[in-house]
Amino acid sequence: MAAFQYKSTNTTTTLFIVINTSHSKQTNKTEQITLLLLMTPSGFSLSSTAEDVTHGIDGSGLTAIVTGTTNGIGNETARVLALRGVHVIMAVRNIVAAQLVKEAILKEIPTAKVDVMELDLSSLTSVRKFASDFNSSSFPLNILINNAGICAPVFTLSKDNIELQFATNYLGHFLLTNLLLDTMKKTAFESKKEGRIINVSSDGHNYTYPEGIRFDKINDDKINDESSYLRWKAYGQSKLANILHANELARHLKEDGVDITANSLHPGCIYTNIVGPEVAKTIPKDMLNMLGDYVLKNVQQGAATTCYVALNPQVKGISGKYFSDSNVDEPSSQATDIDLAKKLWDFSMKLIE
Ligand SMILES: NC(=O)c1ccc[n+]([C@@H]2O[C@H](COP(=O)([O-])OP(=O)(O)OC[C@H]3O[C@@H](n4cnc5c(N)ncnc54)[C@H](OP(=O)(O)O)[C@@H]3O)[C@@H](O)[C@H]2O)c1
Repeated sequence: MAAFQYKSTNTTTTLFIVINTSHSKQTNKTEQITLLLLMTPSGFSLSSTAEDVTHGIDGSGLTAIVTGTTNGIGNETARVLALRGVHVIMAVRNIVAAQLVKEAILKEIPTAKVDVMELDLSSLTSVRKFASDFNSSSFPLNILINNAGICAPVFTLSKDNIELQFATNYLGHFLLTNLLLDTMKKTAFESKKEGRIINVSSDGHNYTYPEGIRFDKINDDKINDESSYLRWKAYGQSKLANILHANELARHLKEDGVDITANSLHPGCIYTNIVGPEVAKTIPKDMLNMLGDYVLKNVQQGAATTCYVALNPQVKGISGKYFSDSNVDEPSSQATDIDLAKKLWDFSMKLIE
């Protein structure tokens, strides 16, 4: 047997080649059977689906909020968590679309516990209203999945005068997490079950502005020109912020001795609504070069890492890590910069004041 290591997307995978040689008296021929086995630390890989990574896991008694479940990865995440018995709160800006998703889940899983609540992550007022409504309900909260996102729009400022990708992908989730944390702490304490916070980031975090986060240009309406606003760099910036947020939050939770973990992840490259044909045309060449060859996943595979980090017992106690293909992975050096994470935390606290 021979073993080789290679990098599949980002996860180091060991490829075992098993060669079994046997001689057949009937044919007088020697036959070689070659088996290729992909071994990863978790036992899952880029082709694993959300159902695979949660197989046999009983999520009943757990409550999860998943943002952005009307489409793509969030939709499949909600379905698979519900399939495993988790009570899923779909936090969405489009209630009508979410009701259709809920109906489809209930049709497939009649026992599913699914609720829909309104949340527009690009508006701090909407985030505050959602959190206040949720906190005043009697629901516990074990799992928070910050999934919703937008990608590479033309330059736009949010209602709060913040660049729209930073506002939606990052700051809305930062505020949401802060406002739900006391409920999560109470649930973790009373249920004696580990709480989990998961930020859906992207390998696109590697493709950000040179300084990582442009603190001086996040809430500035004088940057609406191509030389200053670069839509894909701004996407990368917001996804870098997702990782820095999870890392800094993990440090706070550890310091406080709270039984809640915070992690981030890259779901893979999945064909969803997030990059429409017009936006796809704007992908810069250097970004494509940076991505290199990648395997396009389907949505079932695209939701796997999220569901793995949310439910799988292998992830118990792991906090402040970045995952891809349902394994721990290495993000960029900026993403592990502790000072940058602290600076972003303080900056964000001021923005949400
Ligand atoms: N697809 C990929 O290849 C890929 C790769 C790396 C990372 N990701 C990340 O994965 C996450 C999910 O992406 P996806 O591919 O599943 O995209 P998607 O199919 O476009 O779904 C995005 C979801 O986010 C919701 N959303 C957008 N803006 C919102 C807002 N202001 N408030 C509340 N919800 C909002 C959308 O709701 P509406 O229906 O109302 O628009 C939708 O439900 C994103 O964070 C993305 O950055 C995706």
